[in-house]
Amino acid sequence: MKLFLDSAITDEIKHSLEYWDLDGLTTNPKHINNSGKPFLKVIEEIAELFTGTDKPVSVEVDPHITDWEQIVEQGIQLSKMSPNFVVKVGASEEGFKAIRELTKQGIRTNATLIFSVAQAWHAARAGAYFLSPFIGWKENYGDSTTEFILEVAEMLERHQYDSQIIAAAIRNARQIADVALAGAHCVTAGLVVYQDSMQNPYTVHGEKVFQDAWDATPKS
Ligand code: E4P
Repeated sequence: MKLFLDSAITDEIKHSLEYWDLDGLTTNPKHINNSGKPFLKVIEEIAELFTGTDKPVSVEVDPHITDWEQIVEQGIQLSKMSPNFVVKVGASEEGFKAIRELTKQGIRTNATLIFSVAQAWHAARAGAYFLSPFIGWKENYGDSTTEFILEVAEMLERHQYDSQIIAAAIRNARQIADVALAGAHCVTAGLVVYQDSMQNPYTVHGEKVFQDAWDATPKS
């Protein structure tokens, strides 16, 4: 399963590229806003960080646009800014039409805000390169997310669609494990979620036990 960072903070992106050999990046309007920089400036800086790599970077079109032709127009502009950019489009009838048109033009898309297998199917049928089911949001409302990812993965496999699942809005290590076992191709989460998932209190305790043993052992 590929590891994507969900962020638009350049220091976080640099850290995860350097330490984890990040496989790709996802952004959304919230992350762009949290960066504290104007939209164009931040996406240019992000593009620069990925130059010369084949790592995908999802950048969302203006979410106010509900007309497919305008989504396509903005998607084309974004795709011209960097070969790494994948155009993120909200799941809707207009969005699926835009995904179909962008795909025809050889532009990769990420169908975002996916909450049902039917939406995932529409996006896959339209040619979406990535599908982003939002795990954390669904779990907040008591839905089973493991089953959701299992069903999306099975639908893709059974009907031989090429779209890859990016399990998104991941909040903790348990959800990373759940989506990995359920067959997500990629996972995207914030920096702290990944850092937390690398540690465990037993590991800290065990290191102390071993350090004490090391110190108590004569060295020669
Ligand atoms: C995924 O591509 C989204 O950017 C992301 O996971 C949205 O959810 P969040 O901001 O609530 O984590």
